[in-house]
Amino acid sequence: MVTYSGKAKDVIALNDKEVQINFRDSISAFDGVKKEELAEKGIINCLTSVKLFEILDKYGFKTHFISKISDSKLLCKKVTILPIEVVCRNISAGSFCKRYGFEEGIRFEQPLIEFFVKDDEHHDPLITESVAVQMKFITENEAILMEAITRAVNEVLIKIFDLISLQLVDFKLEFGRTTEGQLLLADEISADTMRLWEKKTGEKKDKDRYRQDLGDVIVHYKDILERLNSIQKLPDYKPLSTVQVIIKLRKSVLDPAGEVTFHSLSRKGFKRIESVRLGKSAEIAFNAVPSSVLQSEIEEISEKILSNPLIEDFELKIRHHSEKSEKEHFQEK
Ligand code: TMP
Ligand code: ASP
Repeated sequence: MVTYSGKAKDVIALNDKEVQINFRDSISAFDGVKKEELAEKGIINCLTSVKLFEILDKYGFKTHFISKISDSKLLCKKVTILPIEVVCRNISAGSFCKRYGFEEGIRFEQPLIEFFVKDDEHHDPLITESVAVQMKFITENEAILMEAITRAVNEVLIKIFDLISLQLVDFKLEFGRTTEGQLLLADEISADTMRLWEKKTGEKKDKDRYRQDLGDVIVHYKDILERLNSIQKLPDYKPLSTVQVIIKLRKSVLDPAGEVTFHSLSRKGFKRIESVRLGKSAEIAFNAVPSSVLQSEIEEISEKILSNPLIEDFELKIRHHSEKSEKEHFQEK
């Protein structure tokens, strides 16, 4: 029995922990206004997703993918799909160009991250992280992790596609939450959910072929899959997730050093200061991609080792360093 039928996939709940996802041959654009059936599309997108989920798994990303049931059917972990799509852009294209009147093909200095609400009726509106959190679509913790994971996925995918002469323009990720609260990469990752251009010629290889009536959609989708399957050795990638742990004295605990600082500042003429509380901070760099698992480890370290739970509490700020900023990170040392 189909539990959920989307525009291109059906989801069947198998038990409390697992679902089966069937990829159909349907393709659609502009929130389902334009739609068609394209033979083999389901199989190609399913196999492309399998390949990319397997690659991401090897780099340590946590995904919903368990195994392949057939060429168009996947066994996946059951999750609650979060109602936010995360888009990462390396080069301007699509809705970004439309929204800001920007030319297509401009490379951004740093990848851009955008959040969109999954809501076809309102054309998947752009939303800020803070509003997404305030409206309880996602928790603050999830927002931080979703952005950090997306940045790390971007770094890996850029390398993978570069190897097969494709330029990763942009892509969209969806996340799911398990009953234990773990965040997993979900949905699919395929030529439907990313923009890929031929490195040498700039030829479009992705769903824009369908959106813009460029023809040969399946020919190009198939070519992407074949190139992915031709990869012999995965590129080296050294992930670096840094966490700043801010340790503060609990509000109810007296802070004599803070008091002394407060009085000294007052004597020096800083009259607008209401109070001063001193704390400490630790920056820890992990050689791992961001995930809920890493986050739990950091929480354990913060609670058991870095802070004294009787008198202190802590706050975490997780960041993902790109390999470029990794150099800066070690230069700072
Ligand atoms: P956009 O430029 O239309 O906002 O799309 C950005 C990226 O997200 C692009 O790679 C295509 C992908 N995408 C989806 O996967 N699903 C969608 O519904 C939309 C609008 C975009
Ligand atoms: N996936 C969306 C749709 O099917 C939009 C798009 O990809 O352009 O309408």
